[in-house]
Amino acid sequence: MPKVTIDGVTIEVPNGTTILEAARMIGPEVAPPTMCYYSKLKTSGGYCRTCLVKVSQGSEKDPRPMPKPVASCRTQVMDGMVVENNTSQEIQEARAGVVEFLLVNHPLDCPVCDQAGECHLQDLGYEHGKSETRFEFPRREFERKDIGDKIQLHMNRCILCYRCVKTADQVTDCRVHGVMNRGEVAEISTYIEKSIDNDFSGNVIDVCPVGALTDKTFRFQSRVWFTKPVDAHRNCDKCCGKVRLWYKGNEVLRVTARKDQWGEVESYDGKTGWICNTCRFDKKTTADWTIEGPSKISRHSVISANHYNSLKALKASIDRQKEALPHGEKVTLGHGALDPNNEIK
Ligand code: SF4
Ligand code: FES
Repeated sequence: MPKVTIDGVTIEVPNGTTILEAARMIGPEVAPPTMCYYSKLKTSGGYCRTCLVKVSQGSEKDPRPMPKPVASCRTQVMDGMVVENNTSQEIQEARAGVVEFLLVNHPLDCPVCDQAGECHLQDLGYEHGKSETRFEFPRREFERKDIGDKIQLHMNRCILCYRCVKTADQVTDCRVHGVMNRGEVAEISTYIEKSIDNDFSGNVIDVCPVGALTDKTFRFQSRVWFTKPVDAHRNCDKCCGKVRLWYKGNEVLRVTARKDQWGEVESYDGKTGWICNTCRFDKKTTADWTIEGPSKISRHSVISANHYNSLKALKASIDRQKEALPHGEKVTLGHGALDPNNEIK
């Protein structure tokens, strides 16, 4: 098994492992950011260049450095390879350049964008962005396209990472959207304005790293950092039924798949936990779900600032109320039950 050293940490990995996978095995301290790679989607990666790293030693056999930064999601580890990510000034500058390019056409509309707080580009902008733009021309704008009653496409925000296209290809049974045209006019669109309405189409919302695909049923209802994520499940005959409910007060404002520390949908027993549109869009009352408890948001995010621990009390209260109610009736939570101050009486 080849050994690779990333930012001074050495790890042995199976043959065929990429530098990015090896870095993730070590941990978030050395893992490069990703905008297009998604471990649960085959052939993803290679589009955005945010995962650039410096290979300062190619391998034990051929120790010459690689002449340019490489995309870690597409470069396989060689035995004896030495990689620099956070320890390389050159890579930090290269990443800042990539972020600058991504922002050339991306509108800075975070104050009105539903993805704010969960947007990977926003995070990258904070970490590597410059305070001023050097771009002097009007930003590229696209005509609005309607892709159905559940998913909002905002093409001006798209960074063409192709994740949604691969999700539709690999997770739904019929892809009706894709990237049209090339170069500056390339855009996500549906074929002949068909709407995306198959059972698993809502997953494109979860994989979009920016606010280009958002949940129409949640739009403009709340900033995500004012909501409280709670893990819940139900018996679903279409999907795994394991979800994250986003509460505001007593109300479930949205339902998403559960995501891991890389911002990707979690896996259970080797299977990715994609959720169906019924769970996502049609089950928005507490009574629809068995509550497991507060979600642990392990990704570095503004949402993880909302620590709250005593939702065990909330779960017990919901369970008690469910038992007491006739079948199908709604459970009402006490006012402020999901208060960040944890005051559940
Ligand atoms: S809409 Fe989102 S997921 Fe699809 S290509 Fe654009 S940025 Fe990527
Ligand atoms: S994550 Fe590697 S190129 Fe986008």
